Order: sequence, then C-alpha cells, then structure tokens
Amino acid sequence: MPTPHIEAQPGDYADVVLLPGDPLRAKYIAEHFLEDVHQVNGVRNCLGFTGTYKGHRVSTQASGMGIPSLSIYVTELATVYNVRTMIRVGSCGGMAPDVNMRDILLAQGSSTDSAVVANTFTAGVHYAPLANFELLDTAYQIAKQKGLDVKVGDIFAADRFYNDEIDMKKLADFGVLGTEMESAGFYLLGAKLGFRALSILTVSDLLFREGSLSSAERERSFNDMITLSLETATA
Ligand code: HPA
Repeated sequence: MPTPHIEAQPGDYADVVLLPGDPLRAKYIAEHFLEDVHQVNGVRNCLGFTGTYKGHRVSTQASGMGIPSLSIYVTELATVYNVRTMIRVGSCGGMAPDVNMRDILLAQGSSTDSAVVANTFTAGVHYAPLANFELLDTAYQIAKQKGLDVKVGDIFAADRFYNDEIDMKKLADFGVLGTEMESAGFYLLGAKLGFRALSILTVSDLLFREGSLSSAERERSFNDMITLSLETATA
C-alpha cells in the first residue's frame, strides 16, 4: 500500500481533487458529476474516485471530519500523489447576520482555535491561513455568473463541534461568516506543501437564528456547490 491511508497507485489521482468530508458524498460526486469513473481508495471506507468532468481529469477523495483527519489525506495527496489543486466541498454553520441557509461561502481566510496552526510557528506568532487567490477569484467570478448567493470572508475552523467556551457571537461581530472544522488546517498545509487550496461551503444550519433545509433543498445546494467547484477546478 503506497500510504497508510490510501491504497491508490501513483498516478491514480488527477491533478485536481475535490474533498468532501463524508465518503458517501465523494461517491455521490463520482456517480452524478464524473464520467469514466473508477474507485481509487477504499481504505477505512474513506472513499476516493477518479473520472473526468467535461473532458478534464478530476478526482474526489473524502477527508473525514476535523483538521486531524483532513490533514492526513491532504498531506498524502500532496506529497505522495503530487496533487496540485484541492477544493474542499463542505457544509458550515452560518454566523454573520447576512448569511442565510443555502448560501455558498468562499473561505478567503480561516481563523481557528486549533493548536495545529499555533504549533507550526514559534510562540507569539498568529499565522493567518489564506485561500489560494487564483482559485478564490475564479470561484467568485463563476458563482456571480451563475447567479448563486455567494459570500467571501473569514470562516472559523473549530476544533470541537460541541463547545461552550468560545464566544461565537464575538467572532460573528468581527465579521466571521460561518464555522466548520477544517479550513484553517487545510490552508496551512496548502502554504506548507505548495498546493492550491480553496474551501467552498454551503450553509447547512444557522448558529443564531432558526433555519432548516428540506432534503431537496439540501441536495440542490450541494449540487450547486459541486458544479461551482468543478468549474473552478477545471477553469
Ligand atoms: N459547527 C461546526 N461544523 C459544522 C457546523 C457547525 O455548526 N455546521 C456544519 N459543519
């Protein structure tokens, strides 16, 4: 096995990889959006597939939840399989007052309470993990052309899904759009390992207001995000 977590052979992954957290979402992307697909990873059921989108070779690989899990897959994709472009396709909780259910958020940067970022630098340094601007700009232009409700800004990557210590309201007051559990570590690794990274997120719940999605709405917003990600990855 080439890595402890991925059984794919060198060359099995495309240069660009879409990273959902959930393995079944990787399967969904492969089955609904890609042609000539084959499975390249099944270790721990953390599924990976490679196929084509409009003639471009594209892969999708599940990352699991949280920075520790994502970091394993992303590091192995970048260092063993030489993947140069990765787009995380995930969900997040909306925080800013003007963020609504089904919005698409582009994480320009990612604040975090994760020790992973702090421990990469000497004490006192608070590194700001940022998206690759080329991907960010491309995704924003395509989203606008498609008339999608898209917002760009800071996403808080929390180490804990359940926590009552962090003042999320204060973060929202400082302009943070939403929260998930991966982007800061993802962008840190993009900078460290030299791949282009962008997180594209759909808002699946709201922290400070009521909001819910029907399963049809959930599917439609997920599909919009995947189309946007594929168009960005292959632009
Ligand atoms: N918190 C953390 N991660 C999430 C959330 C949330 O509210 N929603 C979707 N992913």
